[in-house]
Amino acid sequence: MMHLRTHPGLKSVLIISPFVLVMAALLFSHCAGPDDGEEALTGLQEKALAFTAPLPEDAFEDGMERCEERIELGKMLFFEPRLSKSGLISCNTCHNMSTFGVDQLPVSIGHMWQKGPRNAPTVLNAALHNSQFWDGREPDVESQAIMPILDELEMAATEEHVLAVLGSMPEYVDRFERVFADEEDPMVYENVGVALGAFERILLTPYSPFDNFLRGDADALSDKEKQGLQVFMDVGCQSCHGGAALGGGAFAVFETPAERESGESDLGRFDITGNELHRHSFKVPSLLNIAQTYPYLHDGSVWSLGETVDIVARDMLNEELTEEQNEQIVAFLKALTGEIPAYALEKPILPESTPETPRPGFD
Ligand code: HEC
Ligand code: HEC
Repeated sequence: MMHLRTHPGLKSVLIISPFVLVMAALLFSHCAGPDDGEEALTGLQEKALAFTAPLPEDAFEDGMERCEERIELGKMLFFEPRLSKSGLISCNTCHNMSTFGVDQLPVSIGHMWQKGPRNAPTVLNAALHNSQFWDGREPDVESQAIMPILDELEMAATEEHVLAVLGSMPEYVDRFERVFADEEDPMVYENVGVALGAFERILLTPYSPFDNFLRGDADALSDKEKQGLQVFMDVGCQSCHGGAALGGGAFAVFETPAERESGESDLGRFDITGNELHRHSFKVPSLLNIAQTYPYLHDGSVWSLGETVDIVARDMLNEELTEEQNEQIVAFLKALTGEIPAYALEKPILPESTPETPRPGFD
């Protein structure tokens, strides 16, 4: 649609030149919206680009190699329930790809029906964060990925279990040898994290209406969504929710209303650093796909996005939003839902167990 308006002369040239016809077809087949750089950005687009950016293609950093075989191995491991002690729980159990990388539960259910203490954040776009977990205790997705497998409340496995499982299936042995060919011992526990991390680095969700807006399509947002973006900036949400992921870069002190009421509050980052300033401090979550990743807050205690916005505005900014402002911000937040890569939604076929594969354990 946009292209028609940005190329007013198109109709008349179409008649004279078949070459232009082909060019026009190419333009229309563009799925990301116009990115031809011909149109001047509006003031609102420029203001938004001052605190965020269109999503990159992947989250491999400078000097990191993007290796397709490693990504494929990571994808298999992500969907592999046999890494868990029970043989039942995979990363995808709690970070379900079909529900935007979350389990949509207040707190996750892990090994033998145990509940964890915190809400599961989405794995989508997580590789863009400066640190991992609500308290930022791991620096990147590679180091993060090897933790839940060993967590007694989550997958409850041991390193020995994981290596025995993977080592029992020739296809995994072969894949590790190929992916980590330059290493003396390819099948080591850390490499499980390296492969999982590679998969997570492609789990970005571009082409949300807002992403397309940032890429140059001023009409990608409705008037109400634009008003929401304006209110978002006017009250200062972007001071914490900035960067391409609209979060993931900073920490702030926060207790949920439910915690205040019960008097039992998560200490957050304080548990890791012991620093008084970090008491009840949590990583600023990404707002991408936020309309899909309910329930909200670190204890998953609030189901409504509108209510969450009011709570956070009051707590973080001392700002009492009007009903209209709240609705506008929520409309804007709903425009942050992007596209999950088709590759990640396509489940892998996993190799079959052998007599050596450890049997499920239910204690
Ligand atoms: C039993 C449910 C469960 C399983 C299984 C699980 N996770 Fe998680 N995951 C969580 C919860 C809960 C958190 C938040 C914990 C915290 O912050 O203390 C989390 C946090 C994360 C984060 C941090 C995201 C962020 O925004 O900080 C990533 C990345 C992640 N998990 C990836 C994985 C991978 C990879 C696997 C498989 C190896 C996995 N998880 C298995 C529940 C689970
Ligand atoms: C001072 C930094 C800061 C500011 C300013 C801020 N936030 Fe947040 N926001 C956070 C932190 C930290 C959390 C995580 C709270 C927790 O621990 O549960 C959060 C959580 C959220 C959540 C829930 C995310 C989830 O996955 O559960 C939403 C939605 C949100 N903020 C929207 C906003 C909006 C809209 C504004 C502006 C009105 C705003 N925030 C202003 C730091 C901030």
